[in-house]
Amino acid sequence: MRSDVNRCWRLASRPVGLLKDSDFTFSEEPIPEPKADGDILVRTLYLSVDPTQRIWLARDSYMPAVPIGDVVRAGGVGKVVRSNSPDFAPGDLVQGLLGWQDYALLTAGKRELLPASKLPPGIPPELALSVFGVTGLTAYFGLLHIGRVKEGETVVVSGAAGATGMMVGQIAKAKGCRAIGIAGGPEKCAWITGELGFDTAIDYRSEDVAARLRELCPSGIDVYFDNVGGAILDAALAELAMRGRVVLCGAIGDYTESEQPPGPKNYINLLMRRGRMEGFIVTDFLGQVNEAISDLAGWVSSGKIKNRVDVQEGLEKAPATLNRLFTSANTGKQLLKVADP
Ligand SMILES: NC(=O)c1ccc[n+]([C@@H]2O[C@H](COP(=O)([O-])OP(=O)(O)OC[C@H]3O[C@@H](n4cnc5c(N)ncnc54)[C@H](OP(=O)(O)O)[C@@H]3O)[C@@H](O)[C@H]2O)c1
Repeated sequence: MRSDVNRCWRLASRPVGLLKDSDFTFSEEPIPEPKADGDILVRTLYLSVDPTQRIWLARDSYMPAVPIGDVVRAGGVGKVVRSNSPDFAPGDLVQGLLGWQDYALLTAGKRELLPASKLPPGIPPELALSVFGVTGLTAYFGLLHIGRVKEGETVVVSGAAGATGMMVGQIAKAKGCRAIGIAGGPEKCAWITGELGFDTAIDYRSEDVAARLRELCPSGIDVYFDNVGGAILDAALAELAMRGRVVLCGAIGDYTESEQPPGPKNYINLLMRRGRMEGFIVTDFLGQVNEAISDLAGWVSSGKIKNRVDVQEGLEKAPATLNRLFTSANTGKQLLKVADP
């Protein structure tokens, strides 16, 4: 691989279904030069691979869609190579929206969608992008601030063997709750109960989720943390406890579909059982990140939270690696390693 060029994936057309390499151009460009005050040049080391990137490629959402011709937007961790900012020095590890490219030119202090920040000392990139990154924080704020979970309650989470779901179940256990995870396949189900300490797993590929929830939650579900949407959301709504909460975190089952899914038919239980269903975006809680990091760090050091990263290698694999989330190929947090730290 040449080190004097910047390889970039640029969006060529809006994707339909799973990504194809032909939805993008993959080209070699000159490495950008920091010119303005505040500019920093960052060598990409790891890219975070997130379902939301598939939404960003398709349409406007809580962020504008990636414009056709732009470098694909993605968070990541990189090393500062050159700096025109007094806040960053060459060698610093930083995280920010680096994009699917070898080198990113960021402007420190500029009001970007997510400004670049230094990694806390001693935190390796894999941990910064998982437990202490978007997915760990999403699980934390979703379960505690939106779900307002209390000790002794029953928490059900879908996508339970993924980056966010694995954290939700472990935080629920750390808070003294019962945790039931819904995941695809016997290996993932065995991992979340055997390694992560979930009380029970439901394999949605081989089991009747509605019947299992009815059997496992005779007093109802206090908090359902939804990562997938569709029929599983509907099955959880049917078993909602009195004053139960549904945390709308994501609906990965719908992201590659061109048609909007039908609405959940059991929504009326929110009325009958005085429930609440609330969506959120993790960036709503940027001002409270220190609180979350401190709790998460405590649970990691006491062994209450275990981490798992699923690392693919090579920038040329970026579209294929994003597809892994939609074909259930990943377990734990999906990352793409672009260069050695
Ligand atoms: N609101 C926010 O701020 C926020 C922030 C981060 C993430 N999220 C959302 O959280 C969810 C999880 O994201 P993540 O980054 O942690 O990804 P992830 O769970 O690590 O990976 C995706 C997993 O989703 C499952 N899946 C894929 N298609 C499915 C389908 N049709 N039905 C059921 N399960 C399916 C697969 O696991 P199985 O093997 O179990 O099928 C896959 O491994 C996504 O919906 C994402 O958009 C929201």
